[in-house]
Amino acid sequence: MKNIIVTGGAGFIGSNFVHYVVNNHPEVHVVVLDKLTYAGNRANLAGLPADRVELVVGDICDAELVDRLVSKADAVVHYAAESHNDNSLIDPTPFIQTNIVGTYTLLQACRKYDVRFHHISTDEVYGDLPLREDLPGHGEGVGEKFTPESRYNPSSPYSSSKASSDLLVHAWVRSFDLKATISNCSNNYGPYQHIEKFIPRQITNILSGIRPKLYGSGKNVRDWIHTNDHSRAVWTILTKGKIGEVYLIGADGEKDNKAVLEMILELMGQPKDAYDQVNDRPGHDLRYAIDSTKLREELGWRPEYTDFQTGLKHTIDWYTEHEDWWKSEKAAVEAKYAKNGQ
Ligand code: NAD
Ligand code: DAU
Repeated sequence: MKNIIVTGGAGFIGSNFVHYVVNNHPEVHVVVLDKLTYAGNRANLAGLPADRVELVVGDICDAELVDRLVSKADAVVHYAAESHNDNSLIDPTPFIQTNIVGTYTLLQACRKYDVRFHHISTDEVYGDLPLREDLPGHGEGVGEKFTPESRYNPSSPYSSSKASSDLLVHAWVRSFDLKATISNCSNNYGPYQHIEKFIPRQITNILSGIRPKLYGSGKNVRDWIHTNDHSRAVWTILTKGKIGEVYLIGADGEKDNKAVLEMILELMGQPKDAYDQVNDRPGHDLRYAIDSTKLREELGWRPEYTDFQTGLKHTIDWYTEHEDWWKSEKAAVEAKYAKNGQ
């Protein structure tokens, strides 16, 4: 696996994966195919060696470009997507185009050249789980988690477009013997995450003198994983995964949003209640939780960032030290949220 294409490699998780590959697999050359939408940023790849990483600015829906690049590659790791639920509720159009048509375009090229394909997906394709507190015998250990056998039941335009792309991959494996795998991961945190997302939004709010914003009750639970653990899991699946299989990636990091926000406030020296409760997200998924037994037992992966508070502290430090990376976009991001009372 010497020449890989990383789509969306200038975004949050994709760029962290490119850094991971450069730092850990010296034999690999990476072509990043990225449209540089509002979420993509050249700066995420700054400092990486030019002989190891090439950025091609282009659209995964551009069949000619994709064909040309895939014809020279050993594998495609497909991160590119429209990724934000809130945006998909305002305008689903680019989600349908990039997440579905873009994935289809890549699949066709990989099929033509018999190139290994790994599809990055999300736990949100399974919909949500009830809050543990709403179940009989509520508390720790009560309630199921998502497994590879869970039923697809996506809630938002974003998650349904990702579910659609997963189904395309399955069909290309079954019908055309495409050498593909799929991973569905839980919520990532770490450096280079766009400030529209929950954790960086709150950190940069505090750094900007704006009160953090919590949707609804704040009881909604997300299963947090450090993006470096996600990168190592993807590399493991790419190199050791069984073709046609689905692997769920998660680090047992369930926390409700209020608890995460209080932790951020505490780590940044603010009172625990110094936030605003704002309009809830329509159709807001209640709880995500991943059972990653298959990945752990079959491929031997384990998360390394098991102390969330320490990972969060490093993430806060990163945003504090990289104000130049986010400052110019802050006002526009907040103005967009304000229009929805968020
Ligand atoms: P992101 O929004 O930070 O980055 C997406 C990248 O894709 C950007 O660089 C953007 O420029 C690029 N892109 C968008 N449309 C494109 C197109 N048509 N052609 C080429 N490039 C295009 O997203 P992220 O949070 O890093 O998520 C990356 C992937 O991981 C997505 O597929 C997402 O569904 C999946 N995922 C994300 C999380 C999470 O917590 N963020 C969890 C599980 C899975
Ligand atoms: O589960 C994986 C998914 O995680 C990925 O597929 C998505 O690409 C990624 O964006 C993320 O989706 P979420 O919708 O869970 O992430 P977000 O950061 O938008 O929100 C996390 C939680 O925080 C969610 O319950 C909504 C809430 N929230 C969000 C924002 C932006 C707030 O309470 N306040 C906010 O300001």
